[in-house]
Amino acid sequence: MEQKYARITLDKDFTISRVDKRIYGSFIEHLGRAVYGGIYQPGHPSADEEGFRRDVLDLVREIGVPIVRYPGGNFVSNFYWEDSVGPVEQRPRRLELAWRSTEPNLVGVNEFASWAKKADTQVMMAVNLGTRGIEAACNLLEYCNHPSGTKYSDLRISHGVKDPHNIQVWCLGNEMDGPWQTGHKTAREYGRLADETAKAMKQIDPSLQLVACGSSNTQMPTYPQWEATVLEEAYDSVDFLSLHTYYGNRFNDTRNFLAQSDDMDHFIRTIISTCDFVKAKKRSKKDMMLSFDEWNVWFHANEADDDTMKNRPWSVAPHLLEDHYDFEDALLVGLMLITLLKHSDRVRMACLAQLVNVIAPIMTEENGPAWKQTIFYPYLHASKYGRGIALNPALRSSKHDTKDFTDVTDVDAVAVWNDEQDQVTIFAVNRDLDQDIVLEADVKAFAGYRLLEHIVLEHGDMKAVNSAESQTVLPKTVGDRDQLQDGLLQSKLGKASWNVIRLGK
Ligand code: AHR
Repeated sequence: MEQKYARITLDKDFTISRVDKRIYGSFIEHLGRAVYGGIYQPGHPSADEEGFRRDVLDLVREIGVPIVRYPGGNFVSNFYWEDSVGPVEQRPRRLELAWRSTEPNLVGVNEFASWAKKADTQVMMAVNLGTRGIEAACNLLEYCNHPSGTKYSDLRISHGVKDPHNIQVWCLGNEMDGPWQTGHKTAREYGRLADETAKAMKQIDPSLQLVACGSSNTQMPTYPQWEATVLEEAYDSVDFLSLHTYYGNRFNDTRNFLAQSDDMDHFIRTIISTCDFVKAKKRSKKDMMLSFDEWNVWFHANEADDDTMKNRPWSVAPHLLEDHYDFEDALLVGLMLITLLKHSDRVRMACLAQLVNVIAPIMTEENGPAWKQTIFYPYLHASKYGRGIALNPALRSSKHDTKDFTDVTDVDAVAVWNDEQDQVTIFAVNRDLDQDIVLEADVKAFAGYRLLEHIVLEHGDMKAVNSAESQTVLPKTVGDRDQLQDGLLQSKLGKASWNVIRLGK
């Protein structure tokens, strides 16, 4: 058998960037059972006085999610925020066009802000630039952030919310390039609207961070001209450009599936180039930052969802996008996290889409507990141990080709140095399905560090899943796979495995 290898060198000078913790963000949309039956279920044994499930809150806090995008997604393009505030019994039920459901408006802007506080997270609020525009966006901003003494700030106070929410990050619409979007626009139309909305919102609060919509995915016919045109219009007034991508193992080709993080890498590089092209054209001094505010595996439930929306529309909180993740999905999520960290100098925010029940790491049983999907674990590990300074590990690895990709490294890895805690963590995936590979890491720059822990997520069955009853795919700490001597760390990475190797004093 061909000898596989992987070598890295960790040096405190090989810095990519200090990681913005918001790279570990997530997303809650009014979609399926994310809100109703997910974060909110009055009557459930774990529900608190506001109806929020404490078991879900515990899991969200366990991951450590610094920011959560809300309320959509496609949902936002027909969202009338005024319907979601004020006395609950007076709020209208509305037809929800994106997912062909009924929105009862029991949870709205103020309830979500309250949930976010309990979850120790910030809100990333999206405004409707599909069916609405500048006026509704500014009114919502005034409602949320202005202290008092104006129409919408006083309206909030009259709703029992004295203190403003002080939401700092706002998305200017969602996936406006997509024909499926209510109020879909051309790049020029959207770029103009995003620019004018951004300028008006920054009149209210110049410190806001605003995100313009990039393409919905790299397969869109308008990609990446969309980004160039939108930025030609809005470069000066926005702070972030969004990226979205979802992958799937539709043809049951695991090697090809696990290579898809290379596509994500290429996507990020293309968008950086496009942003920098517009920057140069405009003689701007500003670097456009990236918000990868939707990323995940999404394909398992596609057929069932199409059937539900087509044949059983307009129910409240239907089972939609409830992908049941398997072990190989967790590996790709780990690889995508590594890719985001490698670009943490430009990707300052990212949202695993989504957080609860809808393509999510956390699932809930209506009459039972909340539980962890396989993808929960890499996300937890990265959020917990990936705070600090991302280091370029100068990776050299043997490679392979797959159906759609060439020169795919057998191992992908990145490291994060937590300079405050004097710890360094290597995140590594061995995506070879047949062979263990020894990762050789030159860690001489970290003199005095010892091995703290080597956490592994692996499973003999790539299709193994977790459930409310059993956590089959569960990380373990291994004690016999690492040797650290004279600044050389040798760690055995089991075939098809996610590894978190922690060094410290
Ligand atoms: O996350 C699910 C959906 O995916 C979002 O609503 C939309 O923005 C994207 O197409």
